[in-house]
Amino acid sequence: MARWLAPLLPGPQHWVVYDHDPGLLERARAAGPRASADGRPVTVETRTAELASLGEADLRGADLVTASALLDLFTRGEVERVVAACVGARCPALFTLSVKGRVALTPQEPMDREIQEAFNAHQRRMAGGRALLGPDASQAAAEAFTRAGARVLARPSPWRLGAERRALAAEWLEGWVGAAVERNPDLAAKAGAYLPRRRAECAAGGLYVEVEHEDVLALPPGGDR
Ligand SMILES: C[S@@+](CC[C@H](N)C(=O)[O-])C[C@H]1O[C@@H](n2cnc3c(N)ncnc32)[C@H](O)[C@@H]1O
Repeated sequence: MARWLAPLLPGPQHWVVYDHDPGLLERARAAGPRASADGRPVTVETRTAELASLGEADLRGADLVTASALLDLFTRGEVERVVAACVGARCPALFTLSVKGRVALTPQEPMDREIQEAFNAHQRRMAGGRALLGPDASQAAAEAFTRAGARVLARPSPWRLGAERRALAAEWLEGWVGAAVERNPDLAAKAGAYLPRRRAECAAGGLYVEVEHEDVLALPPGGDR
């Protein structure tokens, strides 16, 4: 998010980048942005932390809280805690690229739907006693922000992966089918034929994938920005 947004926003910036994985944080720091839209300095600090336990005090003074592809990994309670922290700190929040559970492949195959359903069930799995929200997460966040009095804007943000993005489409395909089979091992035999067929289409530039995502911007009450 820092690499995308920092060069689009004017003024000097200091980004505090959180994750619970120190290795990823090191990569984020090393590849962080250096300059804002108007050439002012951008600095990056990393903090290893459990995001769902961040509170209002951690966010106080921030101009923006932002994350991508994160909410689906939270439970409803965790989403509500993060929302409360943002609203308590009166900090605008931008949560991008939350999966919505709908995928369209062109050309279509009947098996697409089965994979999609198993993938969504995988996303809504129990993980260490936690019921993950998966494709229900961005709506849960939007509703929690609305209940807390924030102004909420939700917009579609689909991935559109065609021939020019075939390497990314291939990565996505492996992960999508892999998670579906992990969730429903009965699919393994059919996926054994489906996946190589889809891989070949993808490599030939003949597969177009649209993966529905949503971005949610929340502007809490009392914020002066
Ligand atoms: C799906 S990745 C998205 C990464 C990146 N934002 C992107 O869009 O490519 C989710 C990231 O959130 C981190 N993460 C997931 N749950 C977390 C939690 N509860 N606390 C801290 N970090 C978490 C993971 O380590 C991972 O880096």
